[in-house]
Amino acid sequence: AEAEATVRVPMNIALVKYWGKRDDLLILPLNDSISLTVDRLTAETTIRMVPGVGKHTVEINGKSVELSSNKRYQTVFDEALRLQRKRKEAEASSADSNGNDPPPIFYHFHVTSTTNFPVAAGLASSAAGFAAIALAIQRILRLDDSQANRLARIGSGSACRSMYGGLVHWRKGEMDDGSDCLAVRTEAAANWEDLYCIILVFDDGRKKVGSSEGMRRSRETSQLLKHRIESIVPQRIQQIQEAYTSRNFEQLARVIMADSNQFHAVCMDSTPPIRYLNEASWQLIDTVEEFNIGGIRAAYTFDAGPNACVIVQKENASQFLKAVLQTIQVPSEDLQVIGKELAEQFD
Ligand code: DP6
Repeated sequence: AEAEATVRVPMNIALVKYWGKRDDLLILPLNDSISLTVDRLTAETTIRMVPGVGKHTVEINGKSVELSSNKRYQTVFDEALRLQRKRKEAEASSADSNGNDPPPIFYHFHVTSTTNFPVAAGLASSAAGFAAIALAIQRILRLDDSQANRLARIGSGSACRSMYGGLVHWRKGEMDDGSDCLAVRTEAAANWEDLYCIILVFDDGRKKVGSSEGMRRSRETSQLLKHRIESIVPQRIQQIQEAYTSRNFEQLARVIMADSNQFHAVCMDSTPPIRYLNEASWQLIDTVEEFNIGGIRAAYTFDAGPNACVIVQKENASQFLKAVLQTIQVPSEDLQVIGKELAEQFD
């Protein structure tokens, strides 16, 4: 029979970045990463699983996605159907034969998703999207958490971090089959209630160099990436957890900014070099540095694009916002501030 599930899943922002894959097909990362779940920015997704032969369809914010140009969806659907077959086989062999017809072998999926933030702005929106698909399929097929985690990950690596709230640690694992590559809630997972994310969208066009291509380039050519993976990331993961657990904003902020900067330095260290930050990004960095004179109260972080995510505590949110609006020199119609209304409440 036809089955349907609707879920709402938040995006996440990496505090220690995932950059580099040890396996491109299974999407296994070269390093651990750690993220903060941004509760208010979500993808709401409905999936229908329909028996019979047919084409999968995916619609995001009212636009249909060309599946031939994005293989990741197909990969996720194939994997979901493989898990479905495995379960049916297990059920069939455990139950006595009762003469009923075997269930249909063919299914196709219809996905409709709406996000309450811009897609493809280097904002890990694919993370919320694929996490939502994985969770909806988990409901329909009654998968366990690690199967759902894997399903999200093969859609987009960072998606596996959107399955939980609070601080999430994605362990790279050691196994070639990815069986120990999982995102887990950290011990510090209890939400840090007054931590806010302000997202500044300077450009919501598509990424210039997609994450996968960028990661491949860095893995093949960057010495700094090697050093980062071996000697920098492990201690940063720990520092973030400590800072979060003890509510030490300064320490948290220092590590977040250092890691964002190192990720962009790795991009610069790749051949050909990759540049994600633009003029507005740098203005924002300057604004934060200035805001932090006399005490660190804000932290910026950038993914594979020019848009900034600024993490502040509630008490500093509206003041930071004012500083930004005064200093950033981009045409106001090009600047979108997500989280603004929230910050203004504390004026
Ligand atoms: C810079 O998860 O988008 O945002 O696994 O190829 O889908 P794929 O990449 P993706 O990469 C995210 C990279 C990043 C850092 C991060 O979110 O950790």
